[in-house]
Amino acid sequence: MSTHKQETMKTAIDALMAKMTLGEKLGQLNLVTSNVPIDPERADDVRAGRVGGMLGGLFPCTFGVDGPSGLRQIQEIAVHESRLGIPLLLGFDVIHGHQTVFPIPLAQSCSWDLDHIQAGARIAAREASASGLNWAFSPMVDIARDPRWGRVAEGAGEDPYLGSRVAEAMVRGLQGEDLAAADSIMACVKHFVGYGAVEGGRDYNNADMSPARLHDIYLPPFLAAVEAGAGSAMLSFSALNGLPSHADRNLMEQCLSGVLKVSDFDAIPEMIAHGLGDENGQIDEDDPLQTLTERALRAGVQMDMMGHGYTTRLEKALAAGRVTEAEIDSACRAVLEAKWKLGLFAEPFARFDPERETRDILTTGHRTVARDVAADCCVLLKNDGDLLPLKRSGLNLAVVGPLADDRWNILGPWSFQGNPDHAVSILDGIRNVGGDDVRIQCAKGANVTEDRRMVELLNFAGPKVSIDPRSPADLIAEAVSAAQDADVVVAVLGEAAEMSGEAASRLDIGIPENQRDLLMALHRTGKPIVLVTLNGRPLTLPWEAQNIPAILVSWFGGSESGNAVAELLFGIRAPSGKLTTTWPRHVGQVPLSYDRPTTGRPGDPGQDPGKYSTRCYLDGPSTPLFPFGFGLSYTTFAYGPVTVDKAEPCDDEILTVCVDVTNTGGRAGREVVQMYVTDPVASMVRPGKMLKGFQKISLEAGETKTVTFTLSRQDLQFHNQNLDLVWEPGRFVIGVGPHAQDVRTVTVRWRARGFTA
Ligand code: NOJ
Repeated sequence: MSTHKQETMKTAIDALMAKMTLGEKLGQLNLVTSNVPIDPERADDVRAGRVGGMLGGLFPCTFGVDGPSGLRQIQEIAVHESRLGIPLLLGFDVIHGHQTVFPIPLAQSCSWDLDHIQAGARIAAREASASGLNWAFSPMVDIARDPRWGRVAEGAGEDPYLGSRVAEAMVRGLQGEDLAAADSIMACVKHFVGYGAVEGGRDYNNADMSPARLHDIYLPPFLAAVEAGAGSAMLSFSALNGLPSHADRNLMEQCLSGVLKVSDFDAIPEMIAHGLGDENGQIDEDDPLQTLTERALRAGVQMDMMGHGYTTRLEKALAAGRVTEAEIDSACRAVLEAKWKLGLFAEPFARFDPERETRDILTTGHRTVARDVAADCCVLLKNDGDLLPLKRSGLNLAVVGPLADDRWNILGPWSFQGNPDHAVSILDGIRNVGGDDVRIQCAKGANVTEDRRMVELLNFAGPKVSIDPRSPADLIAEAVSAAQDADVVVAVLGEAAEMSGEAASRLDIGIPENQRDLLMALHRTGKPIVLVTLNGRPLTLPWEAQNIPAILVSWFGGSESGNAVAELLFGIRAPSGKLTTTWPRHVGQVPLSYDRPTTGRPGDPGQDPGKYSTRCYLDGPSTPLFPFGFGLSYTTFAYGPVTVDKAEPCDDEILTVCVDVTNTGGRAGREVVQMYVTDPVASMVRPGKMLKGFQKISLEAGETKTVTFTLSRQDLQFHNQNLDLVWEPGRFVIGVGPHAQDVRTVTVRWRARGFTA
């Protein structure tokens, strides 16, 4: 924002705040849910200036589905019926698309295509704003290395460098070039911070980590999002190193200044259950919310999402001198500034345009981008004997599995505005793309799970999973019979949508047992099997990797997933996605990430490790099943030697790193070329390898391209134990290759002037 615009905003907000009563100021800090049409009591609150923003989210409040007409009513009350006419922030969990549903964020990160990710977020913003929304609780940028945690689905995986680039792309996409434009919405980077590191992968749990790890791994995507202009940030339910995020004043001040800081849903009251008191460990025993509300405000939380404490407790706190007027004013100003930047004061109804709602939703253009992104996200883990792509002509295909003909789960978690009637199942896609050339027999083969209690939980937001009345044996028998008549079997198995996302941690991260029984039975037919998985997390697939010739991970791919997957199966497109999380062999290995620091007993790579080596568990290897960055295509790529323009760069010099990549196969393809750096000697133990650059390139068959990266000494900095950001001259090993475990390397010696390393 230019200085002039900032001054204009300040003058206007000063004037407005001069007119506001204390109650009206506190009202601005209050973020509440509402149904559409608005409940009468909520309408009264809005009229009385007791509400600053509204959100629709989980459970029955399906805010936004009614489109502009429904939401407009709420905004009309705020603007025309409240004393000062201050418009509302209208927020929603726009996580991966809106009505055109894009693949889940974890999947999108596997495209490694930042333009696509930004384009997807732009479309989501356009559609959400056409429903009158002006705020998205996205992007989630929590680094996640424990696939038991269901929310791994909502982020960009395990790596801070990639996570930061994705965070920037998402913010740019949501907010557009001009946040005040009618088709832009404010981003809310979340969940600050450390939520992805919760112990045991248990949701809402706490995390403990060294400050250096926090600063080098978990904070960078937040800083990148803020740098990219994210208008707001949401705090995490979890406590980090003993302090709930909503009370962590230092971290908020350090990292989120200038950003509207909002609590998570009910999270301020939940600090009571955390066992937190005030800064001196005291609490108002009669009204613990009083104490925690005050503490949250003092820490810097500016909006209270469904905690109800800011409107009910802060007046008393002010009178008692436990919070200051300046603290209340500063929070109120932050909310008003966000509204100003969104253009809400100038044009509160700009985002309510019935024409746009019919014109800009689920358009062919949006669906085309969704299909491109869905195809780009799929990761081909295995393709023995080039089973894929399938040749369509005269093909007899058995399409089996509980998720094959599914239009609900394919949309994934957090797709409340996605309508299954507008989704394409894998079976639909195979029919669309296969056409008359392919004869298809389909069978359900298994339920998603036989666990009835889990089914109840999975259906909390709609009937996504049903239990077939037939016995598991009958279901399998039908599928086996279809397989016996087929040339190839496509088995579509994996998770239901709600098996990942919030409150969806799992102990066992494999394909549910009854589906695995189906797969084993299909395997016994001897027919070639293509396993297509739907999933929101890394799965453990050791048996599958050993026994099934082709495995394609399609994640929860959204509205166009079926068409995208079918185009990949039939070779109309080639897979180009690569994993952004390490896939373990066994859940006992987690957390597992590619950048784990080497230990004092790293073992000799060529040798079978002995008992006292730390390389293995007694009962299995410690290596992943599929490494970070891994993914196959229908063609092959060869990497030439890695070259650098200086063997001994000095201080601020920029190092240029080059590698020739050749498409050595028979068809065009896209490759994600990855650059990693290792710092073999440092003042403290460093990650074994760190991603520092990537490029997704297209190559025709036989074509070679030179891929160029640059590195500066800033890229090599890290936080030491005193939390100083340091750069230590010396040896660095630069590796470039197709994934984290396959790089060609070159070593440079980075010098500091006047310093001999
Ligand atoms: C709780 C979740 O943690 C958060 O991600 C979400 O944005 C809010 N609920 C609002 O639905």
